[in-house]
Parts: sequence; structure tokens; C-alpha cells
Amino acid sequence: MLRAPCPAIGRTPSQPQQPKIGPPMLMVTNSKTPEMLEKMRAASAIVSGVLEMIGEHVRPGVSTARLDQLCHDYIVDHGGVPACVGYQGYQHATCISVNHVVCHGIPNDKPLKKGDIVNVDVTVITKDGWYGDNSRMYLIGECSIAAKRLSAITFDAMWHGIVQVKPGAHLGDIGHAIQKFAEGQGFSIVREFCGHGIGKKFHEEPQVLHYGRPGTLEELVPGMVFTIEPMINAGRREVKDFGNDGWTIVTKDHSLSAQWEHTVLVTETGYEVMTLSAGSPPLPAFVTATKT
Ligand code: MF3
Ligand code: CO
Ligand code: CO
Repeated sequence: MLRAPCPAIGRTPSQPQQPKIGPPMLMVTNSKTPEMLEKMRAASAIVSGVLEMIGEHVRPGVSTARLDQLCHDYIVDHGGVPACVGYQGYQHATCISVNHVVCHGIPNDKPLKKGDIVNVDVTVITKDGWYGDNSRMYLIGECSIAAKRLSAITFDAMWHGIVQVKPGAHLGDIGHAIQKFAEGQGFSIVREFCGHGIGKKFHEEPQVLHYGRPGTLEELVPGMVFTIEPMINAGRREVKDFGNDGWTIVTKDHSLSAQWEHTVLVTETGYEVMTLSAGSPPLPAFVTATKT
């Protein structure tokens, strides 16, 4: 995810993004042609395959460094390149964020234990340069009811955002749907990081905020591809750097945080979730309802 709001990943102070006015949004959509989309589907298939593969390994006693190694090997074995390796100096194929880590957790040698909730976030580049970005939560053994609920509500919140996607809708509709649902459940939305356009670059326009007002910000047009990746906290929304490793972000109040991420295409009639895969939880009932 991208530190928001900023034109490129980096350390900018957090501030609410003002809705932009006027017409000059037209050139930031980065619409993709059908040929480009085929390549993005290939990238998405590898990255969602990583999350399928890793599921059975995410269990008590395994270190996140070991999980990272398995993901790295899978990507290479499937003809991809791990996008995070070398990105802004990052050195791993995955970000693995445990419990109160919000995002950008660095794989390490500490074993996972029963009750942990874990986000594995993976980005892949195909040999011809196209990106796919996908993350999931995994629960280690039996988790607390609160932890299970946070993960489930965050999953549903992501889908509340996804179902907004169609030509003529606005980015603010996505953010609003996510915010309204998650805050309605008593959780809070992280504001410092957002989803992002994706294509031949890891992070491109537009920024996809996970909070907002309906009808604001850029209008969606067919061919746009971006991620929706809400980070949702059980407690307060504020985050902070963890120590000085330059990456790890944690909740300020030490409450649990969850995240799910998909890469989504705006189609002529609605959306295509490019990183959808079989082992992901079943779609919420309201998604099926929307599609009919
Ligand atoms: N995959 C993250 C995202 O969803 C970005 C991770 S950047 C890294 O945008 F360098 F930390 F890997
Ligand atoms: Co992303
Ligand atoms: Co990601």
C-alpha cells in the first residue's frame, strides 16, 4: 500500500485528502487495453497462487522468514519476479504483518503462535513487467472471537468497497462504503496508507483511500486497475513507526489490525477482481446479491 496522500511512495505527513475539483483528472486514470489486461491477469494469477500455496504453511511454530522464503521460491518457480525485493531498499518478497502490525511487517525468525492473526502481502512482476498485488489474513489456530471478527469484518469491508466499482462511480464511493461499514462495526480505518493504481508500475495513480465521501474524487472508467486494501484497527486509527527499521507500522494503542487486498479492474459493467482465487473465504452474501 501507498503512504497517503502522496504522488509516490514516501514519507509524507498524513493529512486528509481534499476532494479535487474541476476536470483535470482525465490523465491520471492509467486505463489498460485488453492486451495489457491479459498480462495483468497473468501477474494476478501468480500472486494469488502464492497466497493459495502459503495457506497450509501459516501455522504455529513457523517463522515469517520461512514463509517469505516459500513465497519467494513459488514466485520464481512460476516465472515471476518478487516485486518487493529491492523496492525502495526493501529486501524481502513479502510483507508479513502480525497482530498489532498494520502493514509492512518485515519477515523475521520469530515463530508464529496460536492466536496470532497474520497478513501476508505479496506483489509479483511478470517477465514482461506487469504487476499484481494481493494480500490475505491467516488465523493461527484458534483465535479470540475479537480477532476473528476483526479479520472477517475487514474482509467484508474490502468487498463493500469492491462492489462500488463500476464506470461512472467515484473513488469517494469506494472509500465511503468501506468507512461506513467498518466504523459501523466499531472499528477504525487507517488513513496513512491507501490502495493504488497498478500496471507496469507498482504504485501509480490513482490513490484509493479507504474512507471518504460519496461522489467525490476521480470518476471510474473501464480499463482502470487499482488495489483496494483497507487496514482496519480494533482500537483507535492512529499508527506509528515501530522502532527504526524504516518499514514496520504498528497501531499506536497496540490494538489488533487486519488487512485484505485485491487488484480490481473497472469493466464496462462493473468490476473484475483480478486476484480472486479459490482458497479465499467465500464472498459475502451482499456481493452475490449485487451481481444479480
Ligand atoms: N504490497 C504493498 C502494497 O500493497 C507494498 C509493499 S512495499 C514493500 O502496496 F516494499 F514493503 F514491499
Ligand atoms: Co497494494
Ligand atoms: Co500489497
